[in-house]
Amino acid sequence: MNLLKVIKERKSIRAFKPDPIPKERIEEILKLAILAPSAINLQPLEFIVVTGEEKERLGRRLIKAYKEKQIACSPGNVKPLPKTYGKRGAKTLELMKPFFEEMGVDIDQFINEGSCNFYGAPVAILICLDDSFPKARMVDIGLGLGYLVLTAHEFGLGTCPIGLIVAYEDEIKDLLNIPENKNVVIGVALGYPDWDIPINRFKSPRDELSKFIRWID
Ligand SMILES: Cc1cc2nc3c(=O)[nH]c(=O)nc-3n(C[C@H](O)[C@H](O)[C@H](O)COP(=O)(O)O)c2cc1C
Repeated sequence: MNLLKVIKERKSIRAFKPDPIPKERIEEILKLAILAPSAINLQPLEFIVVTGEEKERLGRRLIKAYKEKQIACSPGNVKPLPKTYGKRGAKTLELMKPFFEEMGVDIDQFINEGSCNFYGAPVAILICLDDSFPKARMVDIGLGLGYLVLTAHEFGLGTCPIGLIVAYEDEIKDLLNIPENKNVVIGVALGYPDWDIPINRFKSPRDELSKFIRWID
């Protein structure tokens, strides 16, 4: 497949088949993800790959934490969001609605509990960053995440970045024995997409390019 096709086709997948992914394939994807550029080639990415019964345990623990604390998606804005961004999020949720109606599920519950369970994917990847790094190294993590999701798509696998779980970082660190000095930045669900589930037909839109650019000539 060529890169442009992969970039255009990739989308977040929110229902997976339970079929396991061979360890070699996961390693192949991560080997390509670490080719992402990083400042001074520091390569700050750290992956924790959780599979099998441990992944199920993680999902159960996070759903329990979500039910107790009810911290919804996108916590952590430092100021009220400018309208442009709020509108984009609201529009995306609106466009997702018919798919959830077809599935007969509550959108809030599906997204929050689904995220906590990595949408049933057989593999949960947590990307961590040593806490000695400044915030600027989040850029490097984002690049690695980008490479990861595109590479997975090339191999016919689906992904969904899962930021919601970071609200329950303490639970994750406790369950998976992650050292205190490592921050869990983002999770990723990885698995074979279940194309029979309506939400996987959803493709999110993007605003027109002019909204993103200010040319200075
Ligand atoms: C940093 C980050 C965190 C995200 N967290 C979640 C999440 O917790 N749950 C979820 O369902 N999707 C999550 N997503 C997926 C976004 O909702 C998705 O990327 C966005 O709607 C655009 O859709 P697309 O990935 O299909 O192009 C996250 C994406 C990113 C980049």
